Amino acid sequence: AEVPVLCIDGPTASGKGTLAVAVAYQLGYHYLDSGTLYRVAGLTMRRNGLEADAAHEARIAELARTLPLRFADGKVLLAGEDVSDAIRTEAAGMDASRVSALPAVREALLALQKSFRRLPGLMADGRDMGTVVFPDADLKVYLTASAAQRAERRHKQLISKGISTTLDSLRADLEARDLRDSSRSVAPLKPAPDARLLDNSALSVEQSVEQVIAWWQEVQ
Ligand code: C5P
Repeated sequence: AEVPVLCIDGPTASGKGTLAVAVAYQLGYHYLDSGTLYRVAGLTMRRNGLEADAAHEARIAELARTLPLRFADGKVLLAGEDVSDAIRTEAAGMDASRVSALPAVREALLALQKSFRRLPGLMADGRDMGTVVFPDADLKVYLTASAAQRAERRHKQLISKGISTTLDSLRADLEARDLRDSSRSVAPLKPAPDARLLDNSALSVEQSVEQVIAWWQEVQ
């Protein structure tokens, strides 16, 4: 591939974000957090009083195609409004998962995602980076961790942001989201045939970063 791309896909709260940010930093690459785009699309749907069903699909897709989105200083700006916190709640995650099951919405976000591929390279993080958006990626990693581990991590993350939840409700949410993400007909969550599997249940962030960088050097 001309502009190098590495992809990390995997289920909710598998640690993709943390890992991908660290790898992007180490390589000096651009970073695409595709989940953010679906979260913003979900928020936009909610604010427009729409439901994620076939009757509203075209309308939501149109909104998604023209999202007035900007990234500045680590913040996500929607028409100038800082929505960084609003898109991080579990409810926003659920809405993201709902809109992301609509084929027209996925199609609408494709060009925007591909536009992140610029020199010196791209670290892309999501569910279908290696299967759909960047099928010719130089390296595809499929990251997993046990459901218990993932619920615990997400719990800590939310608590540290002052958002209160219980471990049980989180785990139920994660499992519902994973089930919807992996059973949808378009771009379901699954490893690309040529993905390398990484289970980080027993790994530190540093160890996971080392593994991905080692694989990256291997494919150069
Ligand atoms: O990764 P994150 O939790 O921010 O993603 C929110 C939701 O967006 C996921 O549960 C998934 O339904 C959807 N998503 C997707 N494809 C991607 C990234 C996220 O369908 N590439």
